[in-house]
Amino acid sequence: MTTTDDRTGAAPTPTGPLSRIDYSERIPNNVDLAGDRRLQRALEGWQPKFIDWWKTLGPALPTKDVYLRTAVAVGRDGWAHFEHVPMEEYRWGIFLAEQNPDRTVAFGKHLGQPAWQEVPGEHRADLMRLIVIQGDTEPASVEQQRVLGNTAPSIYDLRNLFQVNVEEGRHLWAMVYLLHAYFGREGREEAEQLLKRNSGDLDAPRILGAFNEETTDWLQFFMFTYFTDRDGKYQLGTLKESGFDPLARTCEFMLKEEAHHMFVGTTGVQRIVEQTAELMKSHDTEDVLPHGGIPLQIIQKYLNFQYSVSMDLFGSEQSTNAGNYFTSGLKGRWQEARRKDDHVLLDMERQMNTVIDGSIAEQTVPLLNALNLDLRDEYVADCANGVRRWNLALENAGLEQRLTLPHEGFHRKVGTFAGHHISPEGELLDAATWEQRAVEWLPSAEDREAVASLMVPEYEYGKFAGWIAPPQTGINDQPVEFDYVHLRDEALA
Ligand SMILES: [Fe+2]
Ligand SMILES: [Fe+2]
Repeated sequence: MTTTDDRTGAAPTPTGPLSRIDYSERIPNNVDLAGDRRLQRALEGWQPKFIDWWKTLGPALPTKDVYLRTAVAVGRDGWAHFEHVPMEEYRWGIFLAEQNPDRTVAFGKHLGQPAWQEVPGEHRADLMRLIVIQGDTEPASVEQQRVLGNTAPSIYDLRNLFQVNVEEGRHLWAMVYLLHAYFGREGREEAEQLLKRNSGDLDAPRILGAFNEETTDWLQFFMFTYFTDRDGKYQLGTLKESGFDPLARTCEFMLKEEAHHMFVGTTGVQRIVEQTAELMKSHDTEDVLPHGGIPLQIIQKYLNFQYSVSMDLFGSEQSTNAGNYFTSGLKGRWQEARRKDDHVLLDMERQMNTVIDGSIAEQTVPLLNALNLDLRDEYVADCANGVRRWNLALENAGLEQRLTLPHEGFHRKVGTFAGHHISPEGELLDAATWEQRAVEWLPSAEDREAVASLMVPEYEYGKFAGWIAPPQTGINDQPVEFDYVHLRDEALA
């Protein structure tokens, strides 16, 4: 797994009989589901409930079919196949990366022992919790993005939205498979609940805060795929290291799909910035709204918002749970194998920022307790790459304005900075000053309305809404003006 965002989702033809996926089954899979009749029946019982959920809370725009990629094989050399398919007939299935029979637990107190093919009794509850939390985020984002198709800036972008949606649906399948296959009746009950909790539902919301926020418009969608999907990438990266081998193999394959989601976010924001820069230059003004563009200042506010709510997803900087998950071998660090230490981390320390006596200062803490922060640091560095790329678009346009990532303490509801008022520059403020100035830093109702006013659908092949530049290339070597989506007549009415 590289940290580079996947370009267009294209992949060469698959090879290798071992990694082939069986598409003759009702549930496509490479886990020999037919060899376990009970499990197969249980999952076939869950399948219609999933389809019901997709029809009720999945994409609202009526489509005939969409040019989607489907996994064909999970091997190294390729796994993707592209064709126009009706979305409700997408072949959601169960795909695990290939097994390495010599794999051992790479960290914690079980270091060096063979990786577990069954759930160790002592870690059962914790493992199920980790899987449920991950599983809960996958359908949540589909729900959040349900109505975006109605205002798609192009057919190309519409296709990418739907690709992300079907793959998040598949990621739900990935977690539900683990629950059904390894956690008995309790697991099956949790799988039901994953369809019953819904994003923003007052009685049964999704587990994590950021997944109950509404995705109001396409600027937020691109910020979401950039910042929040990227949190997903890092969480999956830690589960890919898990001593529980089926979880590790599932997450390894999910990460391959996730790369395209990163691409959608990175290039989506970049294309908006390019268009804004173009309008700023040609009209010699920062106020590009009357010219049909999104002002840079509003882009910055959306960035501030999505980054800060995504930072919250990493949990508290200091967490004994995170330390226990590590010591137990359930959840490793990002790229654990590349870390040059003992992979046990007892008695090791690190620095972290916190608020001490009215100012932000460093504190020394046990490393084992600060693993959420360790992961977040990796995430922040990755986030900065995209911002650099977006700034290059501004620089290339000869503009002096730049986008920035806000301070780690800005607008936080979780962790050491929660309850404090910190500006994007990292200045500690009193409540009154914060109240007064927050409108400079976070999207206001007016900002959201301004963006919403630009969100009119552009469904003509090869055309793009005025607030976003076209992409450099199409998907899977197809032209940008390709008929990626066939809409139903109702959608055009
Ligand atoms: Fe996902
Ligand atoms: Fe994703």
